[in-house]
Amino acid sequence: MSASTELADNTTSDAMNERDAEPLVRVRNLKKHFPVTSGIFNRVTGHVKAVDGVTFDIYPNETVGLVGESGCGKSTTGETMLRLQEPTSGQVYFKDDQIFGLSKQQMREIRRDMQFIFQDPQSSLNPRMTVQKIIGEAIEFHEIAHGEERRRMVEDLLERVGLQPEYATRYPHEFSGGQRQRIGVARALALNPDFIVCDEPVSALDVSVQAQVINLLKDLQEEFNLSYLFIAHDLSVVEHISDRVAVMYLGHIAELAPTEELFEDPKHPYTQSLLSAIPDPDPKTRDKERVVLEGDVPSPIDPPSGCPFHTRCPARYEPCDSVEPKRTETEDGRIVRCHLYDPEYAPSDPSVVEDLPNPPTIEDIEAGEEADTTSDVSLADD
Ligand SMILES: Nc1ncnc2c1ncn2[C@@H]1O[C@H](COP(=O)(O)OP(=O)(O)OP(=O)(O)O)[C@@H](O)[C@H]1O
Ligand code: SF4
Ligand SMILES: [Mg+2]
Repeated sequence: MSASTELADNTTSDAMNERDAEPLVRVRNLKKHFPVTSGIFNRVTGHVKAVDGVTFDIYPNETVGLVGESGCGKSTTGETMLRLQEPTSGQVYFKDDQIFGLSKQQMREIRRDMQFIFQDPQSSLNPRMTVQKIIGEAIEFHEIAHGEERRRMVEDLLERVGLQPEYATRYPHEFSGGQRQRIGVARALALNPDFIVCDEPVSALDVSVQAQVINLLKDLQEEFNLSYLFIAHDLSVVEHISDRVAVMYLGHIAELAPTEELFEDPKHPYTQSLLSAIPDPDPKTRDKERVVLEGDVPSPIDPPSGCPFHTRCPARYEPCDSVEPKRTETEDGRIVRCHLYDPEYAPSDPSVVEDLPNPPTIEDIEAGEEADTTSDVSLADD
């Protein structure tokens, strides 16, 4: 089956599909399950469902932020998209190529266009190599330049990321954390890629340095027409760099929306909780009621039945613990994976969604009755 035929079956109606350009990257129902073994014979006794059916697009020159709590599958998504991990199932299309069907040689070629920036610049740079060698290695490996030409390319890259060309002879330990991450960025840029997965590139840095590196990534995006998947723990980090944001929970994308819309009108109860947890600098609104999530993220080895968020969701109602929510597109073109927005299960009165969490029962839904909206816990970010 050709890529285009296969895509026709799977293409979603993301609001962003209305853009003029075709997506650069398409992720379709991506799954990555790690086997869990035990005993002396290493018998497989279960699976960690790190990524459990993820679908989204990334457009040319676009940044998609991917956020969620620790262990929800962000890094595994990014790594599997670049085939640093082999997938369990699903497809990832880069331009017209379904990359899981490519040979080693074809993958080697395509990797020039798809790069990765790691979270910890300390451990991702070989301490025994000079900066010249660290950045120049890929240039040499892909036979782009050798000798003097390669040396000049590395120095040019250092300048582009705001470092002095003379630093090329130094070793990683001679730099600050922010400088080391700039070296990581220069290494990712060396092959002139179209797409970079940035896996928490600023989490290990001081807040003041975080802003510098984010601004650098934004400038480079303009200059080189790059697309990013920008992974972070919390929403406040992705707000200023992302065109759209995907919120991940236990291996699934709970919500995907243009950044401004997501911040102004979060739809999924999990997104609402995450936004509610961001400290509010405005004293006028600081005392608004906050949603505090109960408990820890459940284990991805034995995820909850039905909606994976139901064990912590303040808005859960009757279908949530038994029926898995579908990826639903709302009338205003947003993607949400929650029964509240699925016409099959949603409460008949839309105001119920605003006044959550006292949820309707299945009987209410079937009878089309109004649900109880007397709760004093406000989920909305208002
Ligand atoms: N190689 C592996 N073998 C088994 N389980 C793994 C492996 N890599 C990741 N996992 C598990 O998969 C789940 C998702 O991990 P992942 O690193 O993708 O999460 P994350 O969202 O990036 O978390 P963090 O924010 O802490 O970086 C976790 O439960 C993790 O323990
Ligand atoms: S499907 Fe139910 S449990 Fe899951 S987020 Fe929606 S309301 Fe909450
Ligand atoms: Mg991670």
